[in-house]
Amino acid sequence: MPSSAHLGSRLDGSRLDLLLRLVESITASPDLDHVLDRVVQSAVSLADDSHSSLWILQGSRLVKRAEAGRHLSAIPRRTELDIGEGVIGRAALQQQTLVVPDVQADVRHVCREYYRAEKLVASAATPLVSHGRLVGVLVLATRSADALGDGEIEMLTAFAGHAAIAIESGVARAQAQRSAESFRDLVDTLDAIVIEADAETFQITFVNHRAEAILGYPRHAWLTDPNFLVNHMHPDDRDRAVAHRMAATAKGRDHVMEYRMLAADGRVLWVHDLVRVLPAEAGGRRQLRSVIVDITARKQAELELQEQRQLLTHLTRVATLGELSGALAHELNQPLTSILSNAQAALRLLERGTIDLAEFRDILRDIADEDRRAGEVIRRLRALLRRGETPRQPLDVNDVASDVLRLTHSELIGHGVAVSVQLAPGLPKVRGDRVALQQVLLNLVVNACDAMRQDQPLGRELTVATTQDGDGAVRVAIVDRGAGIAAEGIERVFEPFFTTKEHGLGLGLAICRSIVAAHGGRLGAANNADRGATFWFTLPPAP
Ligand SMILES: Nc1ncnc2c1ncn2[C@@H]1O[C@H](COP(=O)(O)OP(=O)(O)OP(=O)(O)O)[C@@H](O)[C@H]1O
Ligand SMILES: [Mg+2]
Repeated sequence: MPSSAHLGSRLDGSRLDLLLRLVESITASPDLDHVLDRVVQSAVSLADDSHSSLWILQGSRLVKRAEAGRHLSAIPRRTELDIGEGVIGRAALQQQTLVVPDVQADVRHVCREYYRAEKLVASAATPLVSHGRLVGVLVLATRSADALGDGEIEMLTAFAGHAAIAIESGVARAQAQRSAESFRDLVDTLDAIVIEADAETFQITFVNHRAEAILGYPRHAWLTDPNFLVNHMHPDDRDRAVAHRMAATAKGRDHVMEYRMLAADGRVLWVHDLVRVLPAEAGGRRQLRSVIVDITARKQAELELQEQRQLLTHLTRVATLGELSGALAHELNQPLTSILSNAQAALRLLERGTIDLAEFRDILRDIADEDRRAGEVIRRLRALLRRGETPRQPLDVNDVASDVLRLTHSELIGHGVAVSVQLAPGLPKVRGDRVALQQVLLNLVVNACDAMRQDQPLGRELTVATTQDGDGAVRVAIVDRGAGIAAEGIERVFEPFFTTKEHGLGLGLAICRSIVAAHGGRLGAANNADRGATFWFTLPPAP
């Protein structure tokens, strides 16, 4: 902005005073249209019986945006001009003030007819240039040539310098306002809750209108309750969500959370919350901006899917146990038979009348041991038949394998399968769901048994081996001497519903693979060099 000291050197005191008042009046207004009106009104106040128009550069054209001064005619006139067109266009192109004392004598003037009808004689067009950029052109026309003397031209050009700056900042403000409005529109059309909150207290400072429709609380409730967000989280998720948010915010990290919120009508909504931590503005505190999306439908579908998967896993486990029922009955029968024969022996001893206390104690001890054995079988079965997941815990894979071999003991003997067990000592524990891992082994052992049905009973051999991989993972392998898998079908056996068995579901291996994958391990198969197949899986060591 030119300094008043500089202007003072060329303008006398009263004119300088007028100029200062005019500049004050145009810079005071925050509204662009108002600024434009004030500019033309100020311009006409510089010369008697004058008319002023203001042309703003829009793209590559000059567009008339404001005018002031008395009109005599209703003659139509131009409202848009190209740069370089007429006197106004030229003033813009050359970026200098063009003064025309006799409009009718100047052929460059494109609006001579209009000037004649309006009885306007002289004109001055001065470019509005702010920071070296052309903003528009200010025109002042008078009904006498004298009214547009050097003094008026000097005032006009001095004023134009200030007007240009005021207009440019008005345009910038209008643009900023438009983009703020369109941002707010966008925020309100999003099907999401958008909030801004203090990063330390979580007090909400902004919430969009959609929030009302999504959760049903009025916006002022969000803004006035200092703990609104925390108070409307599901009590089961509150501590976890708040702790996560505090930890992430303290480090200035953007973060994502899923939790449940309570709607005004009592519904529980699952939400996905994307939180940005905004840097603190000068002297202010850090703010959070959250975009919260309702994901209840997706979450419900996920939960249903998970429930169905669990149900299926359970059903296939029950089906496998059903296949084993004969062998399991036998497994239970053994200790019971043994208990019976021990009890009969004790009775005989009593009948004989001569009680050998040591022998009697041995018999009772045997009965107790066998009873424990039967109890163990029932315990294992009950665990396998129970629905739902069991909690993850550190497990010894060798224990899990022994459990399964004990359960399948009678089945294997019944099919004449010789079992060789090679369990590596000192394996690291794995973290897992005991029942799920038992199910994996159970299916692999039953599959191996099935694969050897066609063999001569003498050739039926099953090896269960545990080892530790090079990378520390525990590896379990089940090796059979059956017919093997058709070479092109090794990956196919893991597909759901792939079965070559008359009564098979074809789900066993698919479920095994998902269980092993959920434990962070891998399940694979290969045919042995000589005979049969090896199914193996790995599990990472517990952290
Ligand atoms: N040890 C093996 N040797 C040869 N083929 C095998 C072996 N294990 C599995 N297969 C093949 O993979 C198929 C799929 O096995 P999977 O356990 O998924 O289903 P299934 O045993 O047929 O039925 P179920 O759902 O009752 O377990 C089997 O039908 C069989 O053709
Ligand atoms: Mg199977």
